[in-house]
Amino acid sequence: MYQRNQQVQNNFDVRNSIFSPETTLWITNINFVFQLDAQIVVKYQEKVKEKKLQIGTQYIKYSRNKYISFQEAFLTILRNLDDEIIGFRLEKNGKTIELFGQINNWIAILMKECVSLDFISNYQIVRLLGSGSAANVYQVYSKIDKQNYAIKVFDKSLSEKDSTIKQSIKMEIKIMRSLNHPNIIQYKGVFESNTQIIVVQEFLEGGDLKTILGDEKINEENAKQILRSILKGLNYMHSNGIFHRDIKKCNLMLRTINNFNSLCLIDFGLAEKANDENKYLYKYCGTPGCVAPEILRKQKYGLKVDIYSVGILGYQILFGKDPYQSSSTKETIMKNFLGHIDFLNIPEISNNGLCFLKQLLQDDPINRLSAQQALKHPYLSNEEQRFFVRNHADVNKRKAQSPVLKPLIFKNSRNSSPNGSPKILNTKIYFKAQASPYYQNEKIDKLSCSQNYGKLSQSWQLKNSFKKMNTK
Ligand SMILES: Nc1ncnc2c1ncn2[C@@H]1O[C@H](COP(=O)(O)OP(=O)(O)OP(=O)(O)O)[C@@H](O)[C@H]1O
Ligand SMILES: [Mg+2]
Repeated sequence: MYQRNQQVQNNFDVRNSIFSPETTLWITNINFVFQLDAQIVVKYQEKVKEKKLQIGTQYIKYSRNKYISFQEAFLTILRNLDDEIIGFRLEKNGKTIELFGQINNWIAILMKECVSLDFISNYQIVRLLGSGSAANVYQVYSKIDKQNYAIKVFDKSLSEKDSTIKQSIKMEIKIMRSLNHPNIIQYKGVFESNTQIIVVQEFLEGGDLKTILGDEKINEENAKQILRSILKGLNYMHSNGIFHRDIKKCNLMLRTINNFNSLCLIDFGLAEKANDENKYLYKYCGTPGCVAPEILRKQKYGLKVDIYSVGILGYQILFGKDPYQSSSTKETIMKNFLGHIDFLNIPEISNNGLCFLKQLLQDDPINRLSAQQALKHPYLSNEEQRFFVRNHADVNKRKAQSPVLKPLIFKNSRNSSPNGSPKILNTKIYFKAQASPYYQNEKIDKLSCSQNYGKLSQSWQLKNSFKKMNTK
């Protein structure tokens, strides 16, 4: 009856999955939160039973204290020959169960927690939406609920060659799945096949800020709406101990056209849980010209790296130019490393606005606003009161004690570049500096900021430490 997609599913052996479920299929003693119920025909180990079952966010209640845990189970939607959904199959740790009935409205709940199989039977590609450094993004039409979604497609062969890439794709999915906030893109599920990992997300029809604004400056009221929306999303993430680490125009999208209050953070490819040990999958990462200087300086860093990137974005949209304008990526990184921002040759904005930007772009993260403080700043909260952050140390004095530069080696990112293409600005980078022999040998420098600049460019030219950077 449902032979139609049996074959497609058989093409992918779940033992080759990059995901490995941590829990068993059957589970007891859990805290069950009811969502929906339905009359179901259950097929398990050649036995068939009819039961009224309830589904919660991660479990299906089977009997009084017996539950099916579908977290990270492999999900196949089963259809009849007329292409109608008639049930689903769950596979986990060698066990398989099939459920049939009126379960169409269970699919969204299941997909969010499971690894789904057989993308082709359930979606149609509409068009290419964007191409990032890590993946291609397409608009798709769902045959399940007749809605449009966006899919982010990762090439699995790369993750097979490099275990860090595999971990980073898994981490991006895990983080997106855990987040739930109006200013953060909604995760819908993931599909896996022999060749691809496909992440399904809500379709954001309002476009990304890079496409909408280009390099133009915008009025302060619109800028405030944008900054407030980003900071609300970041405040939520930071309160859960997670940083984004790649805040920039093309990773900020509007849910609805022309509505800056509907702005969402997207692209959690560099998001990670901040930790005191400073241990990360990619430690030296981000986009040249948008990243907090402490990352480039190889200092221990925390959640406030995102705030610096918000400051850079604020500068770009309020002044219509990049604070680290340069003609090459090397120069951008050098300027970004030094953290010199020109606040003299800029178009006029309100005092509050200027004061706010300076507090976001503080070189020392201790003096930089947190997301929560930034949201309470009079510039965004529209209160006419003076606002103090901790002791504003003399920025120049701090820069004079500026940290030492060590050459950086760039590691390619998660998607293949068609050729060894040239470096461009505003591209995500993954530094793997510790692995570099240059890094190991580099002497610690105690030069002042300006001296450091010369030293820095010299060191780059001499050692040719740029290996490759993905420019997709
Ligand atoms: N949900 C969506 N709805 C509509 N368009 C989207 C959506 N997600 C991504 N895009 C488009 O695709 C582009 C790339 O997406 P994304 O940033 O997730 O990929 P990436 O490869 O991780 O990017 P990066 O180059 O920053 O590493 C975005 O800049 C945007 O234009
Ligand atoms: Mg992106």
